[in-house]
Amino acid sequence: MRSVESIREDFPVLKRVRRDGKPLIYFDNAATSLKPRQVIEAVKRYYEECSANVHRAVYELSQEATDLYEEARAKIARFIGCKPEELVFVKNTTEAINLVAYGIRWSAGDEVVSTVMEHHSNMIPWQIAAERFRIRLRYAGIRPDGTLDLESLSELVGRRTRLVAVCHASNVLGTINDVRRIAEVAHENGALLLVDAAQSAPHMPISVKDLDCDLLAFSGHKLLGPTGIGCLYVREGVEEEVKPPFAGGGMISRVELHGYKLSDMPWRFEAGTPNVAGAVGLAAAVDYLTSIGMESVREHEKRLTERAIEILREIDGVEIYGPMDPERRCGLVSFNLRGVSGDLVAALLDERENIAVRSGLHCAQPLHRILGVQSSVRASFYLYNTLDELEAFRRGLKRISGELGRRD
Ligand SMILES: Cc1ncc(COP(=O)(O)O)c(C=O)c1O
Repeated sequence: MRSVESIREDFPVLKRVRRDGKPLIYFDNAATSLKPRQVIEAVKRYYEECSANVHRAVYELSQEATDLYEEARAKIARFIGCKPEELVFVKNTTEAINLVAYGIRWSAGDEVVSTVMEHHSNMIPWQIAAERFRIRLRYAGIRPDGTLDLESLSELVGRRTRLVAVCHASNVLGTINDVRRIAEVAHENGALLLVDAAQSAPHMPISVKDLDCDLLAFSGHKLLGPTGIGCLYVREGVEEEVKPPFAGGGMISRVELHGYKLSDMPWRFEAGTPNVAGAVGLAAAVDYLTSIGMESVREHEKRLTERAIEILREIDGVEIYGPMDPERRCGLVSFNLRGVSGDLVAALLDERENIAVRSGLHCAQPLHRILGVQSSVRASFYLYNTLDELEAFRRGLKRISGELGRRD
């Protein structure tokens, strides 16, 4: 991998230094990533040099916008190993999952099997679909080590299961799920598999063919890209099971006063003017990550996670959630310091070391209830984070623990 120092040079926000001289340490990458100047420049270039709409006009500028947009799609499709026509642009992971939840041609009595470790974005759409379409939602549990209980999932999936919806990596536990095994269980029972890849696509190599999933969702803003752009992979043929929940311009090939014919894939799911600048920016992000190599990104994050776990284990009264083995988790660690609220830990890390970590429920309220905690602190890493930054984290936490921690 390129040296971390040279990578850091590409991220303007990392140049921020506080009045007390402390540089920003950004450990909230699971919420959103920072953006390299290559992405910022690609977006700026689109607005400065093109700015036209896509798929509408014959004049040169519009053709150019269409080319930029479709080239972006082809590039991002290659990044996850699918065909361009299988890649739908959406706003974010949340919109991708909602598109499926409201679009599937459900039959009353169909079942969705999900897990208790999901982000609300992969939970509430199914709850609302259950209310609306009279389908049933069931949840597989987790084991004490924070891994998915595959046996309970296998028992829940059956003849009535229409769809299995799981995260590839948990945004709280960090657990990486064995998606291939889950795909076998789903497909043996004739069900579709939807993968929420919000926390995996930015951090490790992804191949939808290897995962053997039917649908996969991720957000651009967590993957060095702009906000407001994300992707839904729809395996060829699966589009017939999903009716576009949004309708308007750009998604039909023929319209009568009382009838319409849908466009081909993927445009049938992209009603209205799309986020062209977002797609262009996300393609630049994919170029950036590809030039570094996703294997290298993953290895770098594994080292950081291993060190973060070591540091947390050294400190009295720290409870860590999720599997301890860095092979089985993505680059984030959630924890609590006994006797100190998560918000206070996060506020003190910010105040004393200029470290940005997230505290709270991380859009996973049921999971926190199952863990038996009111909230947690989450440190999440990316390719520009360093072991030196983790030393500041260690220093900050030790001090907080010494001053406020309870040791019973
Ligand atoms: C696992 C997981 N799924 C879904 C989402 C939702 O992503 P977005 O807010 O970009 O739609 C997140 C965001 O944190 C996440 O971590």
